[in-house]
Amino acid sequence: MTILHRYVESHPNSCRLAERANTVFPNGVTHDIRHNAPFSLYVQNASGSRKTDVDGNQLLDYVMGHGALLLGHNHPSIVEAVARQLPLGTHYGASHEAEIRWGELVLGLVPSAERVRFTSSGTEATMMALRLARAHTGREKVLRLREHFHGWNDSVTGQPPSEGTMPVSPGLPHGTLEGSIVVPQNDVDILERTLREDGSEIAVMILEPTGAHWGTEPIDVEFVRAARDLTARHGVLLIFDEVITGFRVSPGGAQQAYGITPDMTTMAKIVAGGLPGGCVGGRTEIIDQIAIRDSESREYVRGERISHPGTFNANPVSAAAGAACLALIGDGEQQRRAAETAEALARALNGVLREESVAGCVYGYSSMLHIAIGANDKPPDGYSWGGAAPKPIAESPRGAAHALKLGMINEGVHLMDTGMMVSSAHTPEDVAITVEAFRNTLRAMKVEGIPA
Ligand SMILES: Cc1ncc(COP(=O)(O)O)c(C=O)c1O
Repeated sequence: MTILHRYVESHPNSCRLAERANTVFPNGVTHDIRHNAPFSLYVQNASGSRKTDVDGNQLLDYVMGHGALLLGHNHPSIVEAVARQLPLGTHYGASHEAEIRWGELVLGLVPSAERVRFTSSGTEATMMALRLARAHTGREKVLRLREHFHGWNDSVTGQPPSEGTMPVSPGLPHGTLEGSIVVPQNDVDILERTLREDGSEIAVMILEPTGAHWGTEPIDVEFVRAARDLTARHGVLLIFDEVITGFRVSPGGAQQAYGITPDMTTMAKIVAGGLPGGCVGGRTEIIDQIAIRDSESREYVRGERISHPGTFNANPVSAAAGAACLALIGDGEQQRRAAETAEALARALNGVLREESVAGCVYGYSSMLHIAIGANDKPPDGYSWGGAAPKPIAESPRGAAHALKLGMINEGVHLMDTGMMVSSAHTPEDVAITVEAFRNTLRAMKVEGIPA
């Protein structure tokens, strides 16, 4: 039986739900990454490192809430915090103490955050950070790195056609793309030249601090350091988009691990303990552009401040979950456990690739792993695990990536496309199960001649 047939046979209830969903949502899904041919997987419950789909199949989960669940599903402290909050109300339309505690925890953990403002998502956080930067510098352009992802807001979507690789996204207002300058990561010369020639028009540079697509293309830390120095020299603000890396790479995110402090940081996912929420933190004079100046009259003075409403900003339930989560991860123990498990996985999975004579490699940083099948036959020099590589690693060929994803689901392991978000709830037993699942999947792929 082929990988595809086995997937279809073992997921009849998912198939039925997908047919229903197809009449409701585009592609039947509610997030691009959940799109999965021939149909998506439907899950009914989750706990720790596992989840169960609607056909009763148990899955080891490496999607982990798209990276939001460093502690695994339903950590007892977070469940308790949410359960305690729910009967007290989900929205007060007023300030509340939990949001202060939540904000204090962010300030205490994240080196660049002198002030913070909560949003409902990472997309909203990057949108606000860019506006703050434009207002602070009086400049308009945004300097981005090729393939770096910052949510779906206009200013960070698509790429000017002359830059090549990323498709231009339909629906962007005329002129929006001209507001972006996109350069490759890891090329200090191009960055230096761009800032020298266009720096006076550039408000801000934004980047994913472990590289494009949460490190699928690893970044050289020295490039990030150069970006810090060069942006400061040209009066350009620097944003670390730590929506994924924040609180994961270390309690203070990648910036703490690298010892490099940006002007602003965008956060989401782990910050809200698995519930919706995000924030932008940064230097006081930048974030305080949101402040209403005349606090006596509460007058909005148009043009003199950046307004920031948002019905669900710092809602009490997310605040309770977020504060419970941040209180647990401040000593770095959870991050250390997750990263240790990820390292064990990377070593073992690379061993399986060698034993099965399949070209490819498993690589990553901290508790984030990526699998490249049929691409490089080994990680680039000096990068098998735990550091940043100067060279990008080729992606898995599309067919191989899809077969790997379906094949691993057949074996009871849910990957995040070709990546793995490892949590502190994953155990050595989970590693052993994943390794066998990977071996069986590679063997099934070889039977089908994948990768060709
Ligand atoms: C680096 C990065 N920035 C921003 C976002 C957008 O966050 P959200 O999905 O909460 O809008 C994401 C989402 O995955 C992300 O990975």
